[in-house]
Amino acid sequence: MCGIIGYIGKENAVPIILDGLKRLEYRGYDSAGIAIMNEKGFEVAKQKGRLTALEELIKQRPIKGYIGIGHTRWATHGEPSDINSHPHVGSKNKIAIVHNGIIENYKQIKERLEQKGIKFVSQTDSEVIAQLAEYYYNGDIVETVIKTANALEGSYALGIMCLDEPNKLIAIKKDNPLIIGVAEHGNFIASDVPAILKHTNRVYYLNDKEIAVLTKSGVEFYNMDREPIYKEPEIITWSVDSAEKGGYEHFMLKEIMEQPRAIRDTIQSVLANGDNGKVIESLDVTRFSKFVITGCGSAYNAGVVAKYVFEKLCRVPVEVELASEFRYKDPIIDNNTLVILISQSGETADTIAAMREAKRRGAVTLSIVNVMGSTIAKETDYTLYTMAGPEIAVATTKAFSAQLVMLYLLAVTFARKLGKLSDEEERKLFSEIASLPDKVSEMLKNVDTIQKYATTCVGYKSIFFIGRNIDYAIALEGSLKLKEISYIHSEAYAGGELKHGTISLIEDNTLVVAISCCERLYEKIYSNVEQVISRGAKVLFIGNCIKALPGEKLEIVNIPVINELFSPSLSVIILQLFSYYVAANKGLDIDKPRNLAKSVTVE
Ligand code: BG6
Repeated sequence: MCGIIGYIGKENAVPIILDGLKRLEYRGYDSAGIAIMNEKGFEVAKQKGRLTALEELIKQRPIKGYIGIGHTRWATHGEPSDINSHPHVGSKNKIAIVHNGIIENYKQIKERLEQKGIKFVSQTDSEVIAQLAEYYYNGDIVETVIKTANALEGSYALGIMCLDEPNKLIAIKKDNPLIIGVAEHGNFIASDVPAILKHTNRVYYLNDKEIAVLTKSGVEFYNMDREPIYKEPEIITWSVDSAEKGGYEHFMLKEIMEQPRAIRDTIQSVLANGDNGKVIESLDVTRFSKFVITGCGSAYNAGVVAKYVFEKLCRVPVEVELASEFRYKDPIIDNNTLVILISQSGETADTIAAMREAKRRGAVTLSIVNVMGSTIAKETDYTLYTMAGPEIAVATTKAFSAQLVMLYLLAVTFARKLGKLSDEEERKLFSEIASLPDKVSEMLKNVDTIQKYATTCVGYKSIFFIGRNIDYAIALEGSLKLKEISYIHSEAYAGGELKHGTISLIEDNTLVVAISCCERLYEKIYSNVEQVISRGAKVLFIGNCIKALPGEKLEIVNIPVINELFSPSLSVIILQLFSYYVAANKGLDIDKPRNLAKSVTVE
């Protein structure tokens, strides 16, 4: 996810764009750039690093103009660098663009243009748009944008300037947000409202494949047949701060709601012949005698879930290790071991150390990370990128869900390569995984039950989570989420463990969250539920195979049915929402919980 902004009007575009980028930095901060069109042509300032670095650069080399575009980047193709920063200008220096999104057919377009002698300078998919638009340009930029958009597959929100038509700023989008703002001194394009709210609260939301043509005096809208279309402006009533969260009270809730897209984009990056798919296919998995999965916090929990999936499908032993333990335990690994390192930030010190320890002992290393160009991403033998976009809340949600789905896809592909699955069986499992985004979307439309129930849970000193098999694994994540943001003590137990000690903790009014998505184990976990209720506990029962009826001590939340191996992606949604609403009812600082950091880059 990146942030784009553009301006055309009576005022100097540079400070307006830089200020807007500041409010869009939460959408990505690998690099930032700005292009101004003035009597000298295009003046471009862009570089790797935070926006402050760009502001410094512009202080050294001031630029000025009344039309410009700006970009703050979250790298998806081509790691963070000056040359991969946006804006991108075509080789004829005629068209400049900023892009948010992923162009899935960029390689084919790039090859075709290179065969025509067009020289590319970056590794990004976005540069293809500028080069293709220049290649098509015939003196009519709107026509050119239509033709270019028709050639693109994937998602985009675009700001476009053309040197031959200096009084126009063009915008078009597909699958990524883009708004048009109109103020008395000028007009704007932006990825979302926060970037321009200080200038105007009158905005138009572009729909897919609508084109906006902005001039100093106004904006016109067209469809792909270049027919004018009429659009109603909306009046924004948000505060600037709430606008950054897309109207949600916390980034965490916004990111919970973004999970269908994060899961869908991650699936696409593997199944739609994406870069991740190629990396997985390139791996000779037959050489490994075991897999070791390691990470910290939620990343570790994703590994515990994955152990059940890999062992069930690949029939290869899987060890899951806390990275902080692994690095000091003299691990039994060698060049027949695949060590999978999971890390959202790619910068967690313990996980970096575990990675280096694994490499030192000759293991093959594969990482699943969310930040391009991060230390772990750069140093492992194989790197898979979750496509969750920047995650701001300290307690991970969308990145965790993207990790899960990446692990499922990895396990299914490995199982087929190991001959444990036929092509047909692999295809069936892929289609189950591909059904996750819609199932999660459905669940996110009905949060009332869990929201209401959570309000009754703020007084607890301790809350227990139980499950069996893969439900136990996701119970670990549910328990961690609750602890991280509500500060309520919590433990997760394998249901079968209750009788070996922990049931002594159950007393009147203890709250137990039980998870049941393994139909074959329903009777077992339900007997745990009955045991704890008989000792005075209340139970929140989450699952897709629950036969019991709700009662005074038993609250039931049903979730969609799916192969139990992939059910953690659904049960975790309820667990995330439960923790979020408990913490929200306690009025806590959910996005920045006390004592925690988004990434612990020290030991
Ligand atoms: C913790 C975060 O600091 O680090 C957790 O609070 C996270 O949410 C853990 O799971 C690991 O971080 P990463 O970036 O390596 O996944």
